[in-house]
Parts: sequence; C-alpha cells; structure tokens
Amino acid sequence: MMVCEFKPGLDGIPAAQSSISSVDGHSGILEYRGIRIEELAEKSTFLETAYLLIWGELPTSEELAAFESEVRSHRRIKYRISDMMKCFPESGHPMDALQASAAALGLFYSRRDLNNPIYIRDAVVRLIAKIPTMVAAFQLMRNGNDAVRPQDDLDYAANFLYMLNEKEPDALAARIFDICLILHAEHTMNASTFSARVTASTLTDPYAVVASAVGTLGGPLHGGANEEVIQMLEAIGCVENVRPYIEDCLERKAKIMGFGHRVYKVKDPRATILQNMAEKLFDKFSPDKYYDIAQEMERVVEEKLGHKGIYPNVDFYSGLVYLKLGIPTDLFTPIFAIARVAGWLAHWKEQLEENRIYRPTQVYNGKHSILYTPIEKR
Ligand code: SDX
Repeated sequence: MMVCEFKPGLDGIPAAQSSISSVDGHSGILEYRGIRIEELAEKSTFLETAYLLIWGELPTSEELAAFESEVRSHRRIKYRISDMMKCFPESGHPMDALQASAAALGLFYSRRDLNNPIYIRDAVVRLIAKIPTMVAAFQLMRNGNDAVRPQDDLDYAANFLYMLNEKEPDALAARIFDICLILHAEHTMNASTFSARVTASTLTDPYAVVASAVGTLGGPLHGGANEEVIQMLEAIGCVENVRPYIEDCLERKAKIMGFGHRVYKVKDPRATILQNMAEKLFDKFSPDKYYDIAQEMERVVEEKLGHKGIYPNVDFYSGLVYLKLGIPTDLFTPIFAIARVAGWLAHWKEQLEENRIYRPTQVYNGKHSILYTPIEKR
C-alpha cells in the first residue's frame, strides 16, 4: 500500500493545474493571466479584470462594452429574493446573509446546462451583477430601509457605493473602490477558491459553488481578517500600545490579524497598493487616527516576526480604505466576496473544462475491529 505524507492544510500540495493567476511569494509578485497586479490596478477596471480572469484574454472594446452592458442589465434582484432577505435577522452577519442569498439565486436559475457556453456566460453575468446588489440591500434592510435600485448610468463600483449610501460617490472614492475590487478578484488556490473548485467538481450549479466559497471566505483566518484588523486597531487605541499588544500576542501564541500568509514571505503586493490608496484618501478627505497605529504595527511585527516571513497581507490595509469610504466594518468581507466572485467563477469554468471530482484520501489514525458494546454495558 502506498503511504503518502500527510500535509496539514495541504501545504504545498497542488490541487489543480491553472492558468488563471500566479504568485511568487518570495519576490512578492502577483499576476492575473500573466499581467502584473500593479499594472491592472493602474490601468484596468474591475469588470475588465473579471473578463480577463474568466475568459483568459483582455477584452476588445466591443467585448468589454457588451459584457458591461449585460452586467448592468442584470443588477436588479427579484422581489422574492429581497422579500426573503427582509426576513433575515438584522443582527445576522452580512456574510451569512450573502451566503444564503447567493444560494437562493440557484432556486431561480437552477438549470444545470454546464456544457452550454451561453449558460456559463449567463451565470457569470448574473452572479457578478447581483452579488453587490444583495450586499447593499441587506445593509439598508437591516437598518429598516428599503433597498435602493441600481442606477444604470453609474459604473460597477460607483453603483455599489451609490446603493449603499443612497448618494453618488466622489469620483476618486469610486475609482479607489474599483481598484480594491481588482486587487481582491483572484489569488490562486486560496481556501475559498479551493472550496469553489471542490463544489464545482461535483457538477452542481454555479450558485452553490459561489455560496460554498462565500462560507469559506468568512472565517478570520481568510477574508474575515479584514474586519478583525479594524477591531484590533480599535482595541490597541494608540501608538504607544502597539509594542505591548504585539508582545502579548506572541506570548499567548495568538495570531496578529492582517499579517502572515501561506505563500508570501514578503509584504503582499496588494497590501502595498492598498496602503498607497489609503494615503491618497487621507490626503483628499482627512487623516485617519488608526493609520499611525497600523504603520507602527508593521514596524514592530517586522522586527519580531520578519525572520519568519511574516508581513502585512491583503487584509491589513484594506479596512482602512473601506473605513475612509464610509463602509461599515462588517461589510468588509462581503466586499471581498463581491470581488472574489470573479476568481471563483474563473476557477469554476476552468474546473469544468477538465473535471474530475475532488476525492482526496486521509491518513486514518483510529481503531479497527472493535466489537459493538450493547448500550446497557457501556
Ligand atoms: C487571506 O491564501 C490566500 O491566498 C488568502 C488570501 C486571498 O487573497 O485569498 O491572500 C486572503 O486570507 C489573507 C490572510 C488573512 N488572515 C489573517 O490575516 C489571519 C492572520 N494570519 C494567519 O493566521 C496566518 O498567517 C495565515 C492563516 C494567513 C497562514 O497560515 P499558515 O500558512 O497555516 O501559517 P501558520 O499559521 O502555520 O504559521 C506559520 C508560523 C507559525 O510560527 P511557528 O509555530 O512556525 O513558530 O508563522 C507564525 C505561526 O505562529 N504566524 C504568525 C502569524 N501568521 C503566521 N504569528 C503571529 N501572527 C500571525 N499573523
């Protein structure tokens, strides 16, 4: 019998062959379809990047215009979905609301025509178009308000901020938000993408694929860390408290949120871009009281943990950007999901192209040949 070495967390085990994105964790390089993330952040838009990820090439202007127009025309959600969302408890976490709503889309569009490119495109468009509407709708509904209708003359990012705040956003704020979506759109075989691929491999519908990935993204070791970073900065309170806070974490062997990564052993390139964008927002609007604390954290963590390759990851500075955009803390992870749906769908499509159901093995370390003990003898 072949004995395989057990790798907790599948560390270093390839789970798929993929041409969607690549990470060089020692040089801090991230590419989508071979294009550096810095270049996409500067020159692309989220919808163009989503197209690139899903269909493998940058679109021509006609292809992009057609895709944008399809997404625009599918932004609304059915009244039965919003009625269902109104029944969600307002104290529930928006990630749970999003997972339930994404799964509910499958009730309406459940036909599984996975060999038909029209079905694939339809599902891609619907999910990319409707997820932001559902996130914004839950935010308004839990505060006792009706959801705001998408506004057709606004682009993807501006429309989301409009639906959330009921007013058109500042142009710089909207562009920075769009860049955030580009940065979060895809990241190789992370936990939620793996989850999406496992679900996809059973040939279920794409709404179930996205719902399972949303559930996986929410945990504090993954996308949920962005929310926890802000709670941590609030708890630290001032720059003087940073060093004792970190020393206490290290003594308790507690994880410092927003730091460390399975692949990056240097600062995550997305964290650098997000930090620059946070600074742009502070310059235009007002400085942020937590930014000095965050910078001091980065210095002290590097001093204490740099030798282990622990540096800020994507979740460390994103929250400061979102806070400045007036977004409530518990929407940070749903916003990560709005962006990552592009990556999940690219992996869904790629998985279907050469599918084999995921069925790994295990290292059994339990007993054998135990006799059943009748209940009265236990
Ligand atoms: C995302 O995978 C992706 O690509 C994810 C992501 C994406 O775009 O999809 O990039 C998004 O999920 C970012 C990560 C957000 N999570 C956090 O910020 C939570 C805090 N970070 C960690 O818990 C941790 O670094 C992980 C979960 C991100 C990575 O976990 P690993 O690879 O399993 O590493 P580990 O927990 O086994 O730690 C290895 C060593 C340990 O020290 P030793 O026991 O070897 O001495 O590094 C230490 C850890 O104690 N360590 C940390 C630390 N992260 C790792 N120590 C203190 N604080 C940390 N944050």
